[in-house]
Amino acid sequence: MKKKMDIAILGAGNLGISIASGLRESGFLKNRELTLTRRKPSVIEHMEGDHIKITADNRSAVRKADLIILAVQPGQLQALISEIRPDLDSDRHLIVSVITAVSISEIAAQLQGPFRIVRAMPNTAVAAGQSMTCMAHNGVDDEVMSEVEAVFECVGQTLQIEEELMQAATVVCASGIAFWMRFIRATTQGGVQLGFDAKDAQKIAVQTCMGAASLLMHEHSHPEQEIDKVTTPKGCTIAGLNEMEHHGLSSALIKGLVTSFNRINQMKNKDEAL
Ligand SMILES: NC(=O)c1ccc[n+]([C@@H]2O[C@H](COP(=O)([O-])OP(=O)(O)OC[C@H]3O[C@@H](n4cnc5c(N)ncnc54)[C@H](OP(=O)(O)O)[C@@H]3O)[C@@H](O)[C@H]2O)c1
Repeated sequence: MKKKMDIAILGAGNLGISIASGLRESGFLKNRELTLTRRKPSVIEHMEGDHIKITADNRSAVRKADLIILAVQPGQLQALISEIRPDLDSDRHLIVSVITAVSISEIAAQLQGPFRIVRAMPNTAVAAGQSMTCMAHNGVDDEVMSEVEAVFECVGQTLQIEEELMQAATVVCASGIAFWMRFIRATTQGGVQLGFDAKDAQKIAVQTCMGAASLLMHEHSHPEQEIDKVTTPKGCTIAGLNEMEHHGLSSALIKGLVTSFNRINQMKNKDEAL
């Protein structure tokens, strides 16, 4: 049987720790080792054990692993790559970057070698095991890509995309969390105006949002089909829905997505991408 890939997450901050927790909780680490690094490893000592090792030594972590996840901030990448480059082997190591706004060709240029590189874009729902992670790669074979998918499916769902769609994925998936939060907050405010206290209004808004998303996943239906089921002719739902559309609900959402997309494409400083 083929040996399972050992993993290193270099730069185990918020995202790295969420991924590590998802891998551990899902049982993915059975028969594998995961090494987590950061310059101040004492902060993540609580993660040690159960197939997880903690260290500040990026080079030894690379030597122990086959799948290397780069999870530092964009401005920290160059120093990290310079440090680990002597220990990287393009035949053995698969490089996975979760770093926002850094392209596969930029990473390849820094690595200076024929490395297999996957660029993954998760969102903050990774912490709740509900990320939408979009991934692009530079010719990684299907068997290896299924390993990478399995890693990110421990913290949500995955989708393989062309890299040219990565900025769009950043807006829809990563900024998307903020857009949905604002939608939930506005629903909560409306609920308060209609008589609920804030806590109850938020509970209702969150669960109704989860319910709507779950319906689409469960029924494999289109949103308009589910809308038809709750809009009685001359009823209150269609009256409210049409009023929202008169005020530009769908148009505002689409324009907001396009504005975010235009903004991300203008950015020169990668640390500010989100
Ligand atoms: N958070 C998300 O949900 C999310 C979603 C999509 C993409 N991203 C991207 O993922 C990356 C990480 O995000 P984050 O929120 O996890 O950031 P973060 O909390 O700042 O994590 C980065 C970690 O890297 C460590 N680090 C920096 N230089 C290092 C080095 N040379 N060797 C080892 N460790 C090093 C830092 O710890 P020390 O100072 O102790 O070294 C820090 O904890 C970013 O590029 C971000 O754009 C994040």
